[in-house]
Amino acid sequence: MGFTILVVDDEENFREGIRQYLIKKEYEVFDAATLDEARATLNSQAIDIVMLDVQIGKEYGPDLLYDIQLMRPAPKTILITAYGEVDMAVDAMKNGAFDFLAKPINFPLLDATLHRATEAIRLQREIENLRNTYQKSYSFIIGKNEKMKRVFRDAERAAAAQVSILILGETGTGKEIIAKFIHQSGPRASKPLMPVNCAAIQPTILESELFGHEAGAFTNADKMRKGLFEVADSGILFLDEISSMSMDMQAKLLRAIEDKKIRRVGGSKEIPVDVQILAASNHDIPKMIEKGEFREDLYYRLRIVDIHIPPLRERLEDLPELVGFLLRQISQECGFNITGVSPQVMDAFRNYSWPGNVRELRNALERASIFCDGDTLELSGIPSDIIR
Ligand SMILES: Nc1ncnc2c1ncn2[C@@H]1O[C@H](COP(=O)(O)OP(=O)(O)OP(=O)(O)O)[C@@H](O)[C@H]1O
Ligand SMILES: [Mg+2]
Repeated sequence: MGFTILVVDDEENFREGIRQYLIKKEYEVFDAATLDEARATLNSQAIDIVMLDVQIGKEYGPDLLYDIQLMRPAPKTILITAYGEVDMAVDAMKNGAFDFLAKPINFPLLDATLHRATEAIRLQREIENLRNTYQKSYSFIIGKNEKMKRVFRDAERAAAAQVSILILGETGTGKEIIAKFIHQSGPRASKPLMPVNCAAIQPTILESELFGHEAGAFTNADKMRKGLFEVADSGILFLDEISSMSMDMQAKLLRAIEDKKIRRVGGSKEIPVDVQILAASNHDIPKMIEKGEFREDLYYRLRIVDIHIPPLRERLEDLPELVGFLLRQISQECGFNITGVSPQVMDAFRNYSWPGNVRELRNALERASIFCDGDTLELSGIPSDIIR
């Protein structure tokens, strides 16, 4: 990771000498001869470190500290002082300067100071990244229950390791939302997440969906088309309902994952691909393997890490937060203004088994919201099979 330095000094020889030295050390260097030039550069470039002379012609260098301290993130400032300016340098440190160095520059000392500055910046960036992933990840997904915390923790680790992940759970438990969580919390967040519902696509079409086809590969294939493996390259492919994939397709998928190469339908050239595979299923895959309906070798390939999302009835303590979150989501989407449920409704929810899990909860809340007159959902609006 490179760092940028802005050198502010009115003496051209000094600027040039420092510039040459820093470039050799692989910094990206900008320079300015006046405070206005320095401000312009600070506004147009992402500067990590400012080396700031105290006397810049008739200007007073530390005046720039006021501008710098308002920036987010604020660049680290190293003051360059002439003989006899130490008191002033100490003052400047109080105003937010990172350190000071005396002229003429002692280069080993400069190296050490820059090293400390870049370490501080690296740390700040790391904290910022962590904070971002946390805020991003937790803004669309709820779970305080111990089993759910474990799900998040495993998901984050597996995301960081970029391995194949098998997401298992009953219908409506949140397999798709966990896939999104894995995508956002891992290093492939800025790359595509391509979902494929293997159950919704006919087996004959699935192959060309995944691997693409060459022009003329079959009737109607008048143009070459890239498949999802190529489209998701360097990102993530999410194979939803993987258990409904035909044995024949399973073999082709396994080969693609193992070789990290695909071949378009009707093509002969092998195309290298770099995709992380997420797969989800609500079926008992080991049982399917016994019955000869799922390939064992593919199963082990897909579940380098397996994540089991517990059913809603095993994490009822998350109900209040889930209800609040889903109601806000529904209200926003449909323009309602429902803020909560009555205590009787919450009781009924706690006593229900939720075979359809979070999706069933969401549907119940949505239906009740439509027929609700106030801002609180009452028992009368809740589907009867739930309050039974
Ligand atoms: N922990 C959660 N926090 C917030 N919303 C959730 C959570 N889990 C699930 N949901 C919501 O519940 C609904 C169902 O979730 P999702 O589609 O991810 O389930 P699924 O396991 O993929 O279901 P299926 O097996 O039927 O495909 C979605 O609207 C989703 O946003
Ligand atoms: Mg799903």
